[in-house]
Amino acid sequence: MSGGGVTFSSQAVNRDSVVILQALLEAGQAFVSGSLLAQQLGVSRPAVHGKLDKLRGEGFEVEAVRNRGYRILRLPEVLHPALLRCALDQRGSRIGLHYFPEIDSTNSEAERRIASGEPSPFAIVAGCQTQGRGRLGRVWESGSAENLYLSLCFEPRIPPQQLQHFTLWAGICICRALQHFVPQAPLKIKWPNDLHCKGRKFAGMLTEAKIDADGIRSIVFGLGLNINSNPNEFPGEIRSLATSLYAIHGEPLALNEVTAAVICAIEEAYAISIGNLVTHTSLAEAWQPLDALAGHEVTAIAGDRAITGIAAGIDESGALLLRGADGASQPIRAGDVTLKK
Ligand code: BTN
Repeated sequence: MSGGGVTFSSQAVNRDSVVILQALLEAGQAFVSGSLLAQQLGVSRPAVHGKLDKLRGEGFEVEAVRNRGYRILRLPEVLHPALLRCALDQRGSRIGLHYFPEIDSTNSEAERRIASGEPSPFAIVAGCQTQGRGRLGRVWESGSAENLYLSLCFEPRIPPQQLQHFTLWAGICICRALQHFVPQAPLKIKWPNDLHCKGRKFAGMLTEAKIDADGIRSIVFGLGLNINSNPNEFPGEIRSLATSLYAIHGEPLALNEVTAAVICAIEEAYAISIGNLVTHTSLAEAWQPLDALAGHEVTAIAGDRAITGIAAGIDESGALLLRGADGASQPIRAGDVTLKK
């Protein structure tokens, strides 16, 4: 697909690689025989050998032992479309997947695909972005293949007011999913779109929607997630403000596994917000333990107004509640929030 005259090529998910990886990953440390793989793929054993060589060239370390077969010793450290597809299949997600080694913006690519009639839902994942964008016209640094640049596209018929719910549920579901990978770290959400750990941002969400008289036509949900990058290498202005899951956890994470977990979390958030999945907690209750702002003095910039107060959670519409000196809570429906030092 082309963006601004530049053409970006997606790398197709290789079905044979998915079948091989599924068998090898399921077997764990056990060997899988070449003849079993040949049978599953309907090809000769030398052809299987060739396909494994191809996987080696893509960053997999595969051991081959005569009369025993093959086993995986190491996975690639970067995104790999077949490995990601395996991880999604394992989690029961059937979402369409497009992987680009490089793209202008995964959100822009999702918009182009919707405009050309591609049925949703689908996910766009990129190794890097040349024009990654953040909220409020900001740039999203997107040069590191150790991080995640992801967009999911949906076409719901819901009133636009429900859009805010979706982004907030996405933050909740993503935070909960990531918490399994970094169990010791307190992952939080800074209303409305940022994921934080100990005051530093490690992810940002950007929801863009096309709306007409009947409601929302399409939603593109974009996520930039710092996974395995080293914050010491971040550009100067964000170095003191940002972090990554690697820095939080102290060890690199399995990029494709984390990506699959995040995609499933976003699908779950979508199902909740359109009423296809029942939750036992309300939005405000689910938000409360993950709220990075609760109890802190914050200033919200809403349009040309600056409102300062103590953050007191969100209401069921998703608005941030700011308690003023008189004890009354004021709902902030949109805007940018800064924590008072
Ligand atoms: C923010 O914190 O300002 C939101 C950042 C969102 C960045 C992601 S990266 C994937 C998707 N594509 C984009 O161009 N932006 C979003």
